[in-house]
Amino acid sequence: VIPQRLFGKTVVITAGPTVEAIDPVRYLSNHSSGKMGFALARACVEAGAQVILIVGGKVALPTPLGVTRIDVLSAQEMLIAAEQCVAGTHAALQLEDEEHDHDHHHDHDHGDCDCGDEHLESLPTADNLVADIFIATAAVADYRTEEAAPQKIKKTQDAMSLSLVKNPDILATISHAHPELFVVGFAAETQDIEHYAQGKLIAKDLDMIACNDVSRADIGFASDDNAMQVFFAERYNQDSAILDKASKDNIAEQLAAMIGDTLLQ
Ligand code: C5P
Repeated sequence: VIPQRLFGKTVVITAGPTVEAIDPVRYLSNHSSGKMGFALARACVEAGAQVILIVGGKVALPTPLGVTRIDVLSAQEMLIAAEQCVAGTHAALQLEDEEHDHDHHHDHDHGDCDCGDEHLESLPTADNLVADIFIATAAVADYRTEEAAPQKIKKTQDAMSLSLVKNPDILATISHAHPELFVVGFAAETQDIEHYAQGKLIAKDLDMIACNDVSRADIGFASDDNAMQVFFAERYNQDSAILDKASKDNIAEQLAAMIGDTLLQ
């Protein structure tokens, strides 16, 4: 029996790569498999949580049982979905509500519409927050094309260049907008793990960060295994923890347990 450390908690997780359109048939992306995020979603459900998994790109992994899955493509779409999920205003959650609980009358304000870039400025406030925990495992593309071409780009020129602009930092945006959320980040580093982890913990105002050493060929990215070092925000007074190489499912179970224990402190 798995301890229900996350019972009654709502967890929003981002997973997979993001896909940034160049034109209607081409895109920029990365090799993220989404496995760590899916494993975490499963582990959080097993620990008793309600889980919403926001999946970027074109991840074909099966959705773990009991998880509400929302597919998006780009970083901008992922940010909007993350904000709406954390606030409980995402259309997919309203549908679920109605399916699960026909008899209840919902009198909270859903707004007129549930999607689109124009709603970024009307981001929800802390008052209507429904999530307790936000975990960012997604490998968000750092840059996107300034503008996707409306038509397929023709190969008429010998050389071409793309103009790229920086994507929003989803984790930092959510964390800064909602200080009461328990926020967990991931980091892939090749050196000075502790130094960079502590830097991100502070810069993105995280409660916890899990880092893996991507210079090792046997773990991370497409692999089924992972090994991690976990750091906590100073206020928890908690030493960093080392999770030895194990399956991503096993690592995810350990991380879910750590999140539950830290949250209860
Ligand atoms: O800064 P760096 O990309 O190394 O940070 C990694 C962490 O930040 C991961 O948890 C990742 O999911 C999150 N992230 C994000 N949005 C970005 C870049 C990173 O949510 N644009």
